[in-house]
Amino acid sequence: MNPQPSPQSPAPGVVRFYSFLPQGDRLSEDVLAGLALPQKSIPPKYFYDEQGCRLFEAICELPEYYLTRTETAILRGNIAEIAQFVGPEAQLIEFGSGVQAKTRILIQALQTQLYVPIDIARILIQALQTQLYVPIDIAMDTLRASSNELSRRFPFLNIVGICADHTRPIVLPEFVGVPIRRKTVFFPGSTIGNFTPAEALVFLRQARKMAGAGGVLLIGVDLKKDKVTLDAAYSDPKGVTAQFNLNLLHRINRELAGDFQVKRFRHKAFYDPILGRIEMHLESQYSQFAHVAGRRFDFAPGETIHTEISCKYSIAEFQELGKRAGFTPEKIWTDPEQLFSVHGMVAS
Ligand code: AVJ
Repeated sequence: MNPQPSPQSPAPGVVRFYSFLPQGDRLSEDVLAGLALPQKSIPPKYFYDEQGCRLFEAICELPEYYLTRTETAILRGNIAEIAQFVGPEAQLIEFGSGVQAKTRILIQALQTQLYVPIDIARILIQALQTQLYVPIDIAMDTLRASSNELSRRFPFLNIVGICADHTRPIVLPEFVGVPIRRKTVFFPGSTIGNFTPAEALVFLRQARKMAGAGGVLLIGVDLKKDKVTLDAAYSDPKGVTAQFNLNLLHRINRELAGDFQVKRFRHKAFYDPILGRIEMHLESQYSQFAHVAGRRFDFAPGETIHTEISCKYSIAEFQELGKRAGFTPEKIWTDPEQLFSVHGMVAS
């Protein structure tokens, strides 16, 4: 799919961008195909239009959504050890970087929250003295905004933004002229949870290839825990997660000439302890139909569109997956409550 990219010379203070997104309209293809399935479903990567990115940032600040602040605290609290583990002059390749952009947004009614959003990448760049930062994200505008801001903050940094869909294979260009001792693939946020374990294995094998022998994988993985905590994290009382989920229908209405009556659908999220994952759905409240790009789709009352899975792993389970992908698990960092884990693995 990707053309073999030619070597690139990044420069400090200059942000370069490359788009690896396919030319054709994947959104319409994927939505039409997904809505035609017996269990209607839409891939979660389509959450992240501009509004979706904003809503996800709001989710990250919810008291119930412990993932972001716990991961940030883990990274902060162990930054010296992490820096030692990765070593100096690493090339930092980050997947799904855009949603962590430090765009400050106004969130309605977050009275109780003292949590200040921090761009996790910044913590690492500073501690690791990284000179080459390669953020990869599907949302081009968010990627541009966060990369440009980062460049102003760290003028010595070489930044090469890659707009790409990380659920498909990517071949990065070789970067010349910047000293690199080690490639580090950084995949925070438990975004790996959007993959099934089988898909996660495929992704990790690709990350292994990207890191190269001796390269490092630094990955944030949400841990299995009680259903009450997990359910609350994905069905917050303020309804921000519901807005995030329902925004998919608004997006389809906006971009694919859809006529979903969004109010007639309900956000539904629950933890399935057998499969060890959150499932998110949009549930039709009535017998109804909607058109998308001129095609009609019928919904029975209670019928759902499956929009996301968010798989949870025990530490041992994820280490096993890492091993099968060609990594040696070396480090594990967690919080005192064992809510979240950050794995440090070396490509064997
Ligand atoms: C960005 C995929 C890590 O699964 O926790 C948050 C997305 N969905 N609330 C997650 C999400 C609902 C999030 N990831």
